[in-house]
Amino acid sequence: VSDFLKPGNTYLPHGFTEHAIERFGAGDPKPILAELPEDRSYERVGIDRAMAIAIDLAVVGMRRDATILDVGCSLGTIGILLSSIGYRVTGIDSDVVASVQGWQDESHISSARETGASARFKFVKADFRDFLASNDGEYDVALLLSVVHHWLEGYGYSGAAKFERGSFRETLMELCSRVRSHIYFETPIDDERTEMPPDPHGEFVFPRWFLDARQATGVTLIASTIATNGKPRRLYRIDLD
Ligand SMILES: C[S@@+](CC[C@H](N)C(=O)[O-])C[C@H]1O[C@@H](n2cnc3c(N)ncnc32)[C@H](O)[C@@H]1O
Repeated sequence: VSDFLKPGNTYLPHGFTEHAIERFGAGDPKPILAELPEDRSYERVGIDRAMAIAIDLAVVGMRRDATILDVGCSLGTIGILLSSIGYRVTGIDSDVVASVQGWQDESHISSARETGASARFKFVKADFRDFLASNDGEYDVALLLSVVHHWLEGYGYSGAAKFERGSFRETLMELCSRVRSHIYFETPIDDERTEMPPDPHGEFVFPRWFLDARQATGVTLIASTIATNGKPRRLYRIDLD
């Protein structure tokens, strides 16, 4: 098992109480921040990203009941927090992380998702490609947060859920065709150039890829964050319309 996959070195997102989620939606993040276990303060990072996206959605004038697709949502923390504001969120995850890591507690995963489930947050357990193939749904916004750097090499470079290059490109193009306005895109900074690929042809350098593929009209850096494994990351808004 590589260091990347060991407990503590990557995601184990935290589930929050309904009360804290509701308060967040009302504009008061204190109860959520108070629920963070001290020894897992990195969870703050997920909340920071939810706040950065919520603020940016307000800046671009997205209406409060817009639809959001959260691709690779894990427990759904960010999607659930956005749904508490009014957005209608569909979170997709195949749980490939949990299955590769092998140490995550499945009951913790399902109970966090159940707590966040509501009329405005729906979780679908599926591989993202199967999800796209199974319906023709369209969304105002998509979140692609710390997900795609796993696709060419497989999760945590384990080969699990690996995408072939053609399928990788097709999946991204299909996602762009299903999203009306914006994709929030994040990947570790290293992965923008060196790890994501390994890509000797520079074919999948993000976030520039969206412009090169003529899918985006603009790319804006909206936040810099720190990943659970300590890597710096950048969060961008990709404008599609
Ligand atoms: C590093 S985590 C990021 C979680 C969350 N987006 C965030 O930024 O906090 C990547 C997530 O994507 C999911 N994932 C990876 N490939 C996937 C696929 N092909 N279909 C569905 N989920 C996938 C994993 O199971 C994992 O929960």
